[in-house]
Amino acid sequence: MSDLRELLHFYAEAGVDTPLEDVPVNRFSQVEAKRVATPPAAPAQRAPAPQQQPERPQPSQPAPAPLTKASVPDDAKIAMARQLASGAATLDELREQLGAFDGCNLKFTAKNLVFADGNPNASIMFVGEAPGREEDLEGVPFIGRSGQLLDRMFTAIGLDRTSVYIANTIPWRPPGNRTPTPLETEICRPFFERQIELANPKLLVALGGPAAKALTNATEGILRLRGNWKTHVTASGIEIPVMPTLHPAYLLRNAAQKRFAWRDFVSVKMRLRALAE
Ligand code: URA
Repeated sequence: MSDLRELLHFYAEAGVDTPLEDVPVNRFSQVEAKRVATPPAAPAQRAPAPQQQPERPQPSQPAPAPLTKASVPDDAKIAMARQLASGAATLDELREQLGAFDGCNLKFTAKNLVFADGNPNASIMFVGEAPGREEDLEGVPFIGRSGQLLDRMFTAIGLDRTSVYIANTIPWRPPGNRTPTPLETEICRPFFERQIELANPKLLVALGGPAAKALTNATEGILRLRGNWKTHVTASGIEIPVMPTLHPAYLLRNAAQKRFAWRDFVSVKMRLRALAE
């Protein structure tokens, strides 16, 4: 029993905290069953001369696999995402389109779509990477430990969730909080780009390297990028200043780096103030 507890603790520490199926599946027994069911190959024989062979009907070809969600090519998924996202005229419509979109595999392991929180009319929009466990359970971005730190950072510069808009580049939790694949990011890209375009903030803050990369196409790491204003260009050509900064989850693990995030937030505060004048 204590072994089992330790094993579960080990899994949870490693981020494996969500079962993908209701019942465990023994993949080893599946492989064994397949091996037993497949007869060993007959020893190679010399082929008889073709004219001595009586005409035999050809064995029927296996039927083509039915077209399933998984069989839609990646390019088609990205194209479908672009079409749906560009057709959304409001944030509510975009949320609906995203909810109905089956092209990203992350949707099938996530519990909820995590679209946004805060005020969609705010002058400033914060963009994270992808929801974690708490966000997935509630369908709201940044409500776990890193979200609580983010709330304190908002307070420090006179903001709160009524004066900011918050979203992620990926709206579904990757299983076990793994890093989203480049394909998953590309499939979700048209949606978050449209979300920015529709929210139309005056300033963006990218929380962490993946968000900074997705918003600015920068190739440097976040420790180099942070603190320097960059630009996000929307599909319709509008340029929005972006402040790349450190992700609150990183700050929870590296408290000494909070001073850099503080500098970035002060710069954001000054720019917001200048916009209001
Ligand atoms: N980390 C993120 O990047 N986004 C969330 O919503 C929560 C944690």
